[in-house]
Amino acid sequence: MKRHLLSAADLGRDDAELVLQTAAELRELADRPIKKLPALRGRTVVNLFFEDSTRTRISFEAAAKRLSADVINFAAKGSSLSKGESLKDTALTLEAMGADAVVVRHGASGAPHRLAHSGWVRSSVVNAGDGTHEHPTQALLDAFTLYRHLGSTDGGRLRPGSLEGRRIAVVGDVLHSRVARSNALLLRTLGAEVTLVAPPTLLPVGVGTWPVETSYDLDAVLPKADAVMMLRVQRERMTGGFFPTPREYSRRYGLDGRRMATLQDHTIVMHPGPMVRGMEITADVADSDRSVIVEQVTNGVAVRMAVLYLLLGGSEPAVGGEE
Ligand code: NCD
Repeated sequence: MKRHLLSAADLGRDDAELVLQTAAELRELADRPIKKLPALRGRTVVNLFFEDSTRTRISFEAAAKRLSADVINFAAKGSSLSKGESLKDTALTLEAMGADAVVVRHGASGAPHRLAHSGWVRSSVVNAGDGTHEHPTQALLDAFTLYRHLGSTDGGRLRPGSLEGRRIAVVGDVLHSRVARSNALLLRTLGAEVTLVAPPTLLPVGVGTWPVETSYDLDAVLPKADAVMMLRVQRERMTGGFFPTPREYSRRYGLDGRRMATLQDHTIVMHPGPMVRGMEITADVADSDRSVIVEQVTNGVAVRMAVLYLLLGGSEPAVGGEE
């Protein structure tokens, strides 16, 4: 493993499978009454969130605490950041407090790279979402969820290579989505075939260089997919009119009960959250048996535990020690 996790492209197949396998071992903890391990006792993890977040911040906090690390939450609102402090001064403050890992979410694409490569901090940097660029731990938790459902598990272990040739449709606002880019990269590394489905206005310039197929026709893609990953329409990032009306968007690119009926029996429906029910996904689909959206959240904690554990140099097996 590299020292930082900034992009899904930082993970080769062996590293990605190591994270997922470690997460599989840690995932079992979620079902135990006592969920804590001593693996990161005495280490400090700082959550540095410049952008709003619910599940990702809480997920990293739960992950670090379950490994017995000390956690410092640092949100931009209510801190000196709103007084104009720079990323550099914030970083120096964190360094002075002895952070071992900094988990950073920032509205600017590239901010975590700046933090990692500036020499301001000695800690490991984990990208928890930067602008419209990347969100590698979301891609890892999505891959983990896919393995659990499609890459059959023998006694809890993930079978390496079992996403090979699986077809994953990623649908919606790809242009503004860091989840889509990280998933495209990681799923390709793991051998899956990704099709991005979006209106032409919501596909990024240069998507031709991504390791994916693209389509404007959701109805044509759905019957072939092994998993359908819906993306939120990120209206807070939209400056112009990317589609005529929300109703028109839903009609062409929303997943509703009628479309869900065209999926194969084993196909699962995913969403990174937060969902806009009625826009990209209807409530009956979100709450259906095919939906693994709530499970994704549980899996996110296990995957982030694995990432923190491996980045902070865990050489002993993560599971095994008694608290
Ligand atoms: C995503 C994000 O923030 O990029 N959500 C998440 O991390 N769970 C996707 C989104 O906001 O739509």
